[in-house]
Amino acid sequence: MTERTLIIIKPDAVQRQLMGKILTRFEEKGLKVVAAKFMQISQELARKHYAVHEGKPFFDGVVNYMSSAPVMVMVLEAEGVIAMSRKLMGETFGNEATPGTIRGDFGACRGYNLVHGSDSPENAEYEMGLYFKPEEIVDYTLASEAWLYGSND
Ligand code: RTP
Ligand code: MG
Repeated sequence: MTERTLIIIKPDAVQRQLMGKILTRFEEKGLKVVAAKFMQISQELARKHYAVHEGKPFFDGVVNYMSSAPVMVMVLEAEGVIAMSRKLMGETFGNEATPGTIRGDFGACRGYNLVHGSDSPENAEYEMGLYFKPEEIVDYTLASEAWLYGSND
């Protein structure tokens, strides 16, 4: 069954002009972009997004970080897209993430980590609702879908 996830190319990645390279990682994997927007997240929206972390010592820091400069927000769609995206992103902090992953290739610190991806179907639904109206998520077929998602059974 197809699944959707919310991806954010975070402020540090936009400022470092890595949007294209990061989007390319997801595109080259074969994940389908079904929504995208460039925006600046308000503190209020960042608090809602990271509500599960409220009360943790890093909560204020992550809210300030996410609202500090523009971001690119996307919805990706594919079977298993949540787990695949998290694997492409790598572990949370660039200084520990495996080389070959987005965070492992472009990050070297714990303060900023380039990209966000939903971690469960429930959180994906919640996060997509924060950033997109249902009609902004576009249902369409990629010409390459038979080769990307096909089987030879
Ligand atoms: P994300 O939600 O952004 O995709 O990252 P994640 O799942 O890999 O990590 P999560 O545990 O959900 O943490 C959310 C964001 O908060 C910041 N953080 N800082 N200083 C710390 O110990 C700490 N822990 C988390 C990071 O920016 C992380 O992406
Ligand atoms: Mg998370």
